[in-house]
Amino acid sequence: MSQNFAQLCLDGQTYTLPIVEGTAGEKAIDIRNLLKETGYITLDSGYMNTGSCTSAITYLDGAQGILNYRGYAIEDLAENCQFIEVAYLILNGDLPNFGELEQFKRDMKRFALIHEDMIHFFDHFPPNASPMSILSTMVGSLHNYYPEMDDEEDPYGGITVTTARLLSKIRTIAAFSYKKSIGHPLVYPNAKLNYCQNFLNMMFDRPNMPYVIKPEVASALNKLLILHADHEQNCSTSTVRLVGSAGVNLYASISAGVNALWGPLHGGANQAVLEMLELIYADDCNYDKYIKKAKNKEDSFRLSGFGHRVYKTFDPRARIIKKACHEVLETLDIQDPLLDVALELERRVKNDDYFQTRNLYPNVDFYSGIIYRAIGIPTNMFTVMFALGRLPGWIAQWREMKEDKVNSRIGRPRQIYTGLTLRPFLPMHER
Ligand code: ACO
Repeated sequence: MSQNFAQLCLDGQTYTLPIVEGTAGEKAIDIRNLLKETGYITLDSGYMNTGSCTSAITYLDGAQGILNYRGYAIEDLAENCQFIEVAYLILNGDLPNFGELEQFKRDMKRFALIHEDMIHFFDHFPPNASPMSILSTMVGSLHNYYPEMDDEEDPYGGITVTTARLLSKIRTIAAFSYKKSIGHPLVYPNAKLNYCQNFLNMMFDRPNMPYVIKPEVASALNKLLILHADHEQNCSTSTVRLVGSAGVNLYASISAGVNALWGPLHGGANQAVLEMLELIYADDCNYDKYIKKAKNKEDSFRLSGFGHRVYKTFDPRARIIKKACHEVLETLDIQDPLLDVALELERRVKNDDYFQTRNLYPNVDFYSGIIYRAIGIPTNMFTVMFALGRLPGWIAQWREMKEDKVNSRIGRPRQIYTGLTLRPFLPMHER
């Protein structure tokens, strides 16, 4: 706790408010007792200035384009780690040693299957069902089959096991939903394969057409999942915390997070980016038309993949992804015209005053879709891929909230009422 404090003058009275300082020097005015002491609340739509919690998981500095998980730079993790090592780090606070990683890998294998009864669920979605709605339904339903959450001593219960279960099963659910959507037989998890290889195999292996897992493809997927693994109090993570604060189980909280991520302003942007690039390409690369549309306040069109609530200089993840995107297309020898459209759009936007003055730069989603496309993931699965990556962050944030006995309260914002004040009730014949 810092020695500094803030003073607030209200109705002729001065109140002293403590300052809370984070380990990287960010400062907050602690208003936890504001209502009790002053009768006032604060109004902050979109929570632009509101810290909803303290957290030791992810640090980001939007002005300088810094993103660290548990103190490690995202660049180092993306370059050197497996996704499940990073998941372990985010969940447990430290990178695993050899034995811990082996145990975690064993857990990923042990829990990879889903209950056979759940497989029938897939048959009852309409053919064009959104993979995100399937994912949220299936994740929420896991609680019915694997409810053991409280007993940490039980080898099949407790939060450690539930976490491993969810991390492993979500990958199986995602791949099965894809296979079902294209009418192909399911490919079950293969214990000989690592996390990313296993997912790719479940997605793309076919009877009589064995899938060959290219190391470059598995490595690109690994990188993408790492880059999405946590991003502090974004919309879906805040949703997970808020829903979890009501005391609901982890599966239900994560299912809510999946739904929040679905939105085109959030995780749905990676799909929206690709659709936008296809649109521009199909329209004879008429960049000016779409840039003009994006700037027109009467038009709801926005350039997907540009802008970020927190990053106002650059998104460090976008830098890594842009490089990875070139590497993947090169090693797989894929010529994708959409990459050219993306590069040209980025170049034009960079030189445009509207985007410059509003600090709108490519975000993580701008190039991720092109990589997913190159490795064969269908467009409507892009946001599902984001969810697979974000899962360790959601779970870690949920667990951190539960473990914080001092500040764990049900999330319940206030409002300023602007409707009619009390008026006399009119019986039906007088209305
Ligand atoms: N295209 C055109 N104009 C934009 C864009 C865009 N992509 N993004 C923001 N603006 C403009 C707004 O119209 C606004 O202009 P104004 O000041 O003249 O009214 C100004 O920039 C500020 O925008 P806000 O919406 O207030 O910024 P906010 O921080 O609330 O929103 C967001 C951030 C949602 C990411 C926004 O930039 C956006 O909609 N981007 C496109 C969708 C997208 O790529 N989302 C993915 C985000 S990354 C993620 O979730 C993983």
